[in-house]
Amino acid sequence: MTMLIKNIKKLVQTESDPVTNRAGKEMSVLNTIENAFLYIKDGKIVDFGKMAEQPQGELQDAVVIDATGKMVFPAFCDSHTHLVYPASREIEYVDKIKGLSYEEIAKRGGGILNSAKKMAEISEDELYEDAMKRLDEITAYGTGAVEIKSGYGLTTETELKMLRVIKRLKENSPLSIKATFLGAHSIPAEYRGRQTDYVDVVINEMIPQVAAEELADYIDVFCDRGFFTVEDTERILMAGLKYGMIPKIHANELDYSGGIQAGVKYGALSVDHLEYTGEEEIKALLNSDTMPTILPGAAFFLGMVYAPARKMIDAGLPVAMASDFNPGSSPSGNMQLILSMASILYRLTPEEAINAVTLNSAYAMGVSDELGSIAIGKRANLFITKDIPTIEYMPYYYGTNKVDRIILNGKIVV
Ligand code: NIG
Ligand code: FE
Repeated sequence: MTMLIKNIKKLVQTESDPVTNRAGKEMSVLNTIENAFLYIKDGKIVDFGKMAEQPQGELQDAVVIDATGKMVFPAFCDSHTHLVYPASREIEYVDKIKGLSYEEIAKRGGGILNSAKKMAEISEDELYEDAMKRLDEITAYGTGAVEIKSGYGLTTETELKMLRVIKRLKENSPLSIKATFLGAHSIPAEYRGRQTDYVDVVINEMIPQVAAEELADYIDVFCDRGFFTVEDTERILMAGLKYGMIPKIHANELDYSGGIQAGVKYGALSVDHLEYTGEEEIKALLNSDTMPTILPGAAFFLGMVYAPARKMIDAGLPVAMASDFNPGSSPSGNMQLILSMASILYRLTPEEAINAVTLNSAYAMGVSDELGSIAIGKRANLFITKDIPTIEYMPYYYGTNKVDRIILNGKIVV
């Protein structure tokens, strides 16, 4: 199966010498080719360049798409979501409007515990069908790869149920999916006051069973004030690492929790949220391979302080951005909106913002060797825009869908 996309107004994020991510000043680098072609074979990008240099010959049987007036981008990589969940939580959101904080809602048994209650009741099939619909929805907005976490189960049985659903999604969806075990997302009510006992369950029961069924690529802990301590986090990460689960940490959303440093210490692929990031945290990250990942949707929806993205980039760090799609703190998986928020709320230039939601977020979910940019040999996961005047228009014209078609593994899916 071959495909030729021709007359592309602008081919965006091309790489002749692919890098794994872009940090600091390099985040402003965004290579483009005007009036371009892109040639796809067997699901991979095999050639691209100026229309004038377009190869002839072997293209006879190719599906041809004329992209006159349109741009082509690598599909978004959404490196942090909780999109397998049993029910929406809009009533809690009204409590938030009335002034209750995220932590107050959690203390009253709302929040993650509310989802956990419903998770015990819902069937695996229903969970799967609902999540598949959400995958279709984010695909239509240009997402081509997504990481999905467990963490709304909080018992061995229900955590396994969630992870089995993610496994089925991996097998049946055209999106590239990574699974993360997040048993330590919240402390179940029956363990209140004896949190360490729950950590023991995570370590001694959950992790070995998740590993035995090979259900998780990564392991996560919500390391923050009122949730899991640095000590809990380190114990869990050590246990996960024994089974080859690489850490991706929820850190420093509610306080200077030490979560960033704990993540770096255990070689986390990413540390995520980062509202409370100061000099110490930046220093720790500068000496690491850990991708700092900001989740603008959650900060926006909860009305929190914004992570110091500019300061981080100016200090030489890379930054990725992801949706955090979940029913409590970020009920949207629209990565075009995240791209706009990157510029509007965090003052990233359009070039920096595009790097944050493509190449750097690919790195944050461990797929930047095959996704996140337009490079020969990479998987053909990309989108064709509607007619748009400039690249800058993508973050600027916020709130509408500017994606016309999406191609995953070389096939048109939307
Ligand atoms: O990433 N911060 C912790 N966990 C989720 C929220 C999940 C929920 O409230 O359901 C987050 O924002
Ligand atoms: Fe999250």
